[in-house]
Amino acid sequence: MKRIPVSGPSISEKEIAYVTDAVTNAWYANANVYHERFERAFAEYHGVRHAVALPSCTSALHLSLLALGIGPGDEVIVPDSTWIASAAPIQYVGATAVFADIDPQSWCLSAESVEAYVTPRTRAMIPVDLYGNVPDYAALQAIARRHDLAVIEDAAEAAGTWSHGRPAGTFGATGTFSFHGSKTLTTGEGGMLITDDDAIHQRVLVLRDHGRAPGDTMFMNREVGYKYKMSSMQAALGLAQTERIEELVARKRVIFGWYREELGDCEEVMLNHEAEGVRSSYWMTTAILPDRLGGKAEVIRRLAGEGIDCRPFFSPLSSLEAYAQTQPASMARECNMVAYRLGAHGVNLPSGLNLERNDVARVGAAVRELLSQR
Ligand SMILES: Cc1ncc(COP(=O)(O)O)c(C=O)c1O
Repeated sequence: MKRIPVSGPSISEKEIAYVTDAVTNAWYANANVYHERFERAFAEYHGVRHAVALPSCTSALHLSLLALGIGPGDEVIVPDSTWIASAAPIQYVGATAVFADIDPQSWCLSAESVEAYVTPRTRAMIPVDLYGNVPDYAALQAIARRHDLAVIEDAAEAAGTWSHGRPAGTFGATGTFSFHGSKTLTTGEGGMLITDDDAIHQRVLVLRDHGRAPGDTMFMNREVGYKYKMSSMQAALGLAQTERIEELVARKRVIFGWYREELGDCEEVMLNHEAEGVRSSYWMTTAILPDRLGGKAEVIRRLAGEGIDCRPFFSPLSSLEAYAQTQPASMARECNMVAYRLGAHGVNLPSGLNLERNDVARVGAAVRELLSQR
């Protein structure tokens, strides 16, 4: 029985040709050719002035916070349901992460909950485009304007998602992307920061290169910064993937459509929601299952027995040992009902780009079998 992996990329002749060219030729005077082409193509797709290739989305979030001047004494609101990378950089800069609840339909940051967590110390929010969906950005931006908060969009999971005519990543002062091997677009490991703000862009360029502005005198650093760079081989891979972004998202949407055919009429199962005006990239097809199946760990264990690899819906950050002792986490544990409910019963189903119709049929049959047993 073939194992069905939970995620994985689509690599075509284009990626192989660009990476082969990079490893052969992108040295000496040509060392930056693929970085420039990748950043330009990514910026053009998103209709923004600047894109900066980085080693990860985590580093893109870190540089966003630094460039916005967020530091000790400041609070930054993040959704309780996300990967820890959305919140960890808040601690890197000495600020405090505050965990707000998610919306029961979009599974993204709830505007209503954000409003309840704003204090005089709140400086920013980091909405997350969870599993390729988007929160209600109009509502979040209205709150940001009212309380003078910066918005950093964590679009790690949402390359190729569009909402009301705009691509994910363009709803904040900066947008950050991940090209981890599981993502719709991959460079193996990698990230991108996009922005329309020239000052943020300049600051990010200095900070990511050990405190040197492009063109500075060699080895004469102006301040202590970071080494946040990507290799030419990764940039070449990213360029090829960016040139195929519409094809890759179309495939994700086909896969989601197959899951809808398999599970759409199971009343007890909730799949990813797509609001009016949104084109989700459906990075990971996700199912919220009924309590009676015994929770996500049990479902994952049962499906693994059928050769099907799944991932758990993110447990709330406020429930993790990493944040156990923090005051915002204890408040979140009391208040964030939706994050706790969905976090207990959600499962990311296999969503790799190489899935075939019969793989999804197997997953659908296995989930229906679980539902019929208990
Ligand atoms: C929502 C979210 N934010 C941030 C990240 C961090 O991305 P990276 O692993 O590229 O640092 C991820 C990646 O898994 C993610 O899913």
